[in-house]
Amino acid sequence: MAHNCKKCEDSGFVLVEIDGVFYSKPCSCQETERATKLLETSNVPEKYRNKCVLSRFIVPEDNPSLKEAYEIAKKYSEDYPVFEESKPNGLLFMGPCGVGKTHLAVGILNEIFFKKKSPAKFVELNELYREIRSTYGNADTTEYDLLYPFAEAELLVIDEIGCLSSQWSQEILHYLISHRYNKNLPTILTTNYLDDAQNGEPSLTERIGTRTRSRLYEMCRTVHMYGDDFRKRRKP
Ligand SMILES: Nc1ncnc2c1ncn2[C@@H]1O[C@H](COP(=O)(O)OP(=O)(O)O)[C@@H](O)[C@H]1O
Ligand SMILES: [Mg+2]
Ligand SMILES: [Zn+2]
Repeated sequence: MAHNCKKCEDSGFVLVEIDGVFYSKPCSCQETERATKLLETSNVPEKYRNKCVLSRFIVPEDNPSLKEAYEIAKKYSEDYPVFEESKPNGLLFMGPCGVGKTHLAVGILNEIFFKKKSPAKFVELNELYREIRSTYGNADTTEYDLLYPFAEAELLVIDEIGCLSSQWSQEILHYLISHRYNKNLPTILTTNYLDDAQNGEPSLTERIGTRTRSRLYEMCRTVHMYGDDFRKRRKP
């Protein structure tokens, strides 16, 4: 049978000779395997895994906000896990649908898995709410069981905050955010809602509540992204 890795024939080790003596050392394929495992356990949906990488983010020359957002994402992943003291250790990507917020957030995670070999988690809020609802009436899994791994993750991406605005959904988000705030854990978030909402649109504060928004001001650098929906932009 063919081996996946020709160097170590899938043993995970290679022999190196130093002064006539052979030593075994971990093969380079193990590093990739480790990163792949980190990605697999991160809860990043399959559809984003290979697509949303920083190297595949097209930086439009005529859109400074996207250029800056890309630079911030790149620098964040390069500096991680070191943060400047007294500065927020998280990011909040804010902007309309399709500008690339999720792409950049997942892009950072991919860099951290493959370059830093460090764990992180991803959660899409709508999906989490759905899963939590499914635990009600189920004695084996509690809401807390579902939330805790995200609350405690070394680095967490929360995609689409504000997607629901009921008191129930605000409480769940508040639990996650305040837990991470108290432990100073880095968090990256995305939202379609703006602070200075116009045309009768609700603001982010209205969607997630004042307490959570004010925590996020301390936890995250806000990254504004403007522009057209990328899916439409590409069409001739
Ligand atoms: N600048 C970009 N370069 C390449 N692909 C992009 C870019 N911006 C968005 N996309 C792609 O367009 C789609 C929508 O982007 P996404 O990040 O999901 O938007 P948002 O989260 O802001 O709604 C995704 O498939 C994403 O990979
Ligand atoms: Mg998105
Ligand atoms: Zn190998």
